Amino acid sequence: AHPDSVRIVEVGARDGLQNEAQALSVELRCELIGRLAAAGLRHIEAGSFVSPKWVPQMQYSDRVLLQLERQPGVRYAALTPNLQGLEAALAANASEVAVFTAASDAFTQKNINCSVAQSLERIRPVLEHARTVGLPVRGYVSTVMGCPYQGEVPVQAVVDVAQALLDMGCYEISLGDTIGTGSVPQTQNLIRALALHMPVSQLAVHFHDTYGQALANIYAALELGIRTIDGSVAGLGGCPYAAGASGNVASEDVLRLVEGLGLHTGIDAQLLAETGQWISDQLQRPNGSKSGRALVAK
Ligand code: HMG
Ligand code: MG
Repeated sequence: AHPDSVRIVEVGARDGLQNEAQALSVELRCELIGRLAAAGLRHIEAGSFVSPKWVPQMQYSDRVLLQLERQPGVRYAALTPNLQGLEAALAANASEVAVFTAASDAFTQKNINCSVAQSLERIRPVLEHARTVGLPVRGYVSTVMGCPYQGEVPVQAVVDVAQALLDMGCYEISLGDTIGTGSVPQTQNLIRALALHMPVSQLAVHFHDTYGQALANIYAALELGIRTIDGSVAGLGGCPYAAGASGNVASEDVLRLVEGLGLHTGIDAQLLAETGQWISDQLQRPNGSKSGRALVAK
């Protein structure tokens, strides 16, 4: 990618909606994704093929993927925890999938009911099968700067799991500050440590704004060469571990940050802001993006 351009990976229709109390209809999920594509997003997580007992909000992700109106050049991605998920994602014609684990066993135990090592063994056949059908796979590592159950997470644990996912064939690792406790120095230490083992171009940051630090941490990551940033329109989502806490960093705010730095994204800020306000209205929740609110108030 060009050093002056930033890729924003839109996770609102997945990470955002999976953490909203209210499950949205398939039609509204499709409309959200359509509006995001119209705003210029080129990588959109459209759903998740996980157990509906665990995450009821992501049920019918197959229908979402099959019903949405696809735009050329847009990748519609889905989370797949295991082979069953991958089969479903393939049947729904997902453009790519994402596997996910964490840097702490305490977290994977609660999130996917196994240890980190066991999760890697579940993920391995997903990558093998995806390779045979030519499907790109993104890898998520959660709790990279803190775990809600374990507390501190050693940087080496993040390096090890990121390396393992790349070795298995993930094209990119998205670093999840799942509970948003990371600081600027922590972000710098983490990325510097990872960069000793893998190209920065294969790393993305996925920061939650629980403590209002996401943009500062993203800036630190940009300074160290990161050019892929995950965001959620209107800051959709919350945090299942902290009542009332905000969720993913808002895509509108990330866009404002990177545009201010003179970096290009191909995204229309006004259309994105209007999409954020629209989905907030649908969910009857406050719009979680400051720049989004400012742009729609104009
Ligand atoms: P399990 O209970 O350990 O495994 O769940 P299982 O294989 O014994 O399956 C149990 C039941 O789930 C069975 O159904 C399976 O058929 C079904 P039952 O017999 O009880 O009726 N099942 C599935 N159903 C649909 N799709 C599938 C699937 N696989 C099994 N793919 C499992 C293991 C992983 C499935 C479960 O723990 C699960 O679904 N967890 C959900 C985890 C999740 O989605 N978390 C949120 C996404 S991760 C995230 O948000 C973090 C991220 O944003 C980065 C960050 O912020 O840090 C990415
Ligand atoms: Mg997340």
